[in-house]
Amino acid sequence: MRYAHGGLESPEYYVPGLPANYVAERYGIPLADIAKLGSAENPHGASPLAAEAVGQHLGALHLYPSWTADALREKIADTYGFDVSEVICGAGETEILSLITRAFCAPGDKIQMPGPCFPIYHLFAEAEGRIPVLVHSATNRHSMALDVDAYVEAVEPNTRIVYITNPHSPSGTWLEEAEVRRIIDASADALVVLDEAYVHYSETSGYIHLVHEYENLAVLRTFSKAFGLAGLRVGFGVASQPIIDTLMAVKPTWNMGQLQIVGGVAALDDQEHVARTVRTIVKNRDYVQGRFEELDRFRMVLGSRSNFFLVEILDLDTNSTKVFEGLLERGVIVKDGSVSFRGLDDRFLRCDVNLQLHMDRLVDALSDLP
Ligand SMILES: Cc1ncc(COP(=O)(O)O)c(C=O)c1O
Repeated sequence: MRYAHGGLESPEYYVPGLPANYVAERYGIPLADIAKLGSAENPHGASPLAAEAVGQHLGALHLYPSWTADALREKIADTYGFDVSEVICGAGETEILSLITRAFCAPGDKIQMPGPCFPIYHLFAEAEGRIPVLVHSATNRHSMALDVDAYVEAVEPNTRIVYITNPHSPSGTWLEEAEVRRIIDASADALVVLDEAYVHYSETSGYIHLVHEYENLAVLRTFSKAFGLAGLRVGFGVASQPIIDTLMAVKPTWNMGQLQIVGGVAALDDQEHVARTVRTIVKNRDYVQGRFEELDRFRMVLGSRSNFFLVEILDLDTNSTKVFEGLLERGVIVKDGSVSFRGLDDRFLRCDVNLQLHMDRLVDALSDLP
């Protein structure tokens, strides 16, 4: 059988964080004792207002939703100061990333991203015959910050999409507005995609306003993190109308169900849930940093503005896969850097910030490893 694009001949799939019940069953650990720190989920669960709205709309399941998710687009447009025509909704940001890959980069052209990054950027590129260019510019292993000079220099004439993730994943590092502007200015012939999935945890309002200034910029956000709706699948993108019109044309027609639309609308009114979540993350990011000072074989990479951080394994007698397995046996789920992030070697783990109890479990399990 012949495939349209080379990537599908040897498909590679996203490796999500392990589910808690799998680890509980495999190691015989009570579910309540598992610390799930590999998926950057919300420690306080779903937005209560969103959950209530979803419950109230079960009676509408027989009706087709608005194919453009208009109620949610209007709410997003009002909330962030845009016109409805500048907003698109998707089944998580992930769906919008897929649309962008197909709509704005022809097979054989390049998509630039920091290395390491959110793997979906390069997996979708490869699956559809586009060429991912990972710019491994975080030469400073101590901070893992993006080298903006190197990133800007890497943009080529046939680079069609340039990704920026802010805060970045997996490092949590933060770019100032002037740095983001430099990257956009250097990418005049490309679409710049600014992924702000974790922006709430930076305690800033992010750079969504830059869409008013740059016609080649799309800003993406998700309801999976601070709103706690990872299981509902809601994300959105904001960009100039021509970009949105193009994405609408490649979008699967009814990509958003009734429940996603009403849940998203209600979540945007739930500032209390977002504020509580951000308070918990910021407090426990500091807390876990203090606890890491007890460890001498592991180092927390400082400066994360997100709800996860990198851990560097200083002990050369072990590696990220062995530590990952050792933590699983102790009921702690993290991400093995060498498996989950292309370009991150076997010296790193990515661990979520969560409730203090789970931060203690992580640090205690690390110090218990042989
Ligand atoms: C940087 C980044 N962007 C986007 C996403 C996807 O979010 P969603 O659940 O909205 O598809 C994630 C999820 O982990 C992420 O880490």
